[in-house]
Amino acid sequence: MARNGKTAAESGARPVKVNAWNGWDPLRHVIVGRATGTVVQAPEPAVRRDFPDDGFPLGTYGPMPAGMTAEADAQLDDFAELLRGRGIRVDRPTPLDFTREVATPDWTHPSMSGCMPPRDLLLTVGNEILEATMSYRSRWFEYLCYRPVLQALFDADEDMRWEAAPKPRLTDASYHAGFWDTYPTLSTEEQLARVRAHDLVLTEAEPLFDAADVARFGRDLFVQLSFVTNRSGHRWLKRHFPEHRVHAVTSTNTHPLHIDATWVPLRPGLVLHCGERLADAELMEFFRRNDWEIVEAVQPASWDHPPKLSYCSPWLAGNVLNLDPRTLCVEEKEVRLADQLVSLGFEVVPVPFRAVGPFGGGLHCATVDIEREGTLEDYFPRRHGRY
Ligand code: ARG
Repeated sequence: MARNGKTAAESGARPVKVNAWNGWDPLRHVIVGRATGTVVQAPEPAVRRDFPDDGFPLGTYGPMPAGMTAEADAQLDDFAELLRGRGIRVDRPTPLDFTREVATPDWTHPSMSGCMPPRDLLLTVGNEILEATMSYRSRWFEYLCYRPVLQALFDADEDMRWEAAPKPRLTDASYHAGFWDTYPTLSTEEQLARVRAHDLVLTEAEPLFDAADVARFGRDLFVQLSFVTNRSGHRWLKRHFPEHRVHAVTSTNTHPLHIDATWVPLRPGLVLHCGERLADAELMEFFRRNDWEIVEAVQPASWDHPPKLSYCSPWLAGNVLNLDPRTLCVEEKEVRLADQLVSLGFEVVPVPFRAVGPFGGGLHCATVDIEREGTLEDYFPRRHGRY
């Protein structure tokens, strides 16, 4: 019910509808994250944060510098307003006190993390929104920030399917002990061999995945095996979406963490590829056989971005958000990428978003699709190899 006692439909507003099958159909409703309260999380087996020059040497943790948080929140708020100005409905998460210690029967952890980036946590497939398992202890309770939004969607749209993947135990059995001591000492070749074999920090003790490791292309879902997504997580997703073809993929990224700066769909038939992280040859051939063009992203504007306290790479440049198949939001400083996209026929909406990088992402990471017009389509009628 709206405040005047009328339902959304009676008051003329479009009814709320959860529906998104891919990353490019016209966007109608979205979640935009918040930087408020974000902390550099306390040390945990899944992740190592070591920023000796920026006040957080290994082993230390605590709130991000207040000025950085305020700046990021201002850019996130402005982005939300830009989207609203285009008639897109925008929801926001409710931050918790992320400095609080959290506990399960198995462990206690001295801090949480934040509610940026929402893309990591929620996966919309059709009329379903799925809460990912996550694989950091500091992010175990992050779903609580989204429960007010999810509850409201559940109440407003009687067709919405609200799902949560099994909450993981995240005991020490879920992580390879000592991974972060040895992995950084390996050569690039040795690291890539580990990536190919998917022998990284996570064990296969239980299904683990972040939603941002999933790229949606209609009937086909591509799941990146990464620092936060294991084979068991892929298998869980495969059984959970029996009507989809759910593929596990890797690339030549020594630090795989979320697929959306590596393999980015732009419109049917066109995928943006971060050239430094080559997708496996069979996957590339699968796309080409189905008449998809694979475009290599130009170099990011700056190798110094994202700046301090970030766990992202400069390839965040390619983390663009489609407003529809012809219109892309691109970080405003990424002018070369914008030119490239214009030459491919897109209209580019420049968005100031530099301050958000240290909070875990770009324009795609910072959002979750709730509604995109459109239906489930098969963009890959021809099979190839294991695809
Ligand atoms: N790991 C990616 C990179 O550094 C950034 C992707 C962030 N995506 C996200 N959904 N948080 O290139």
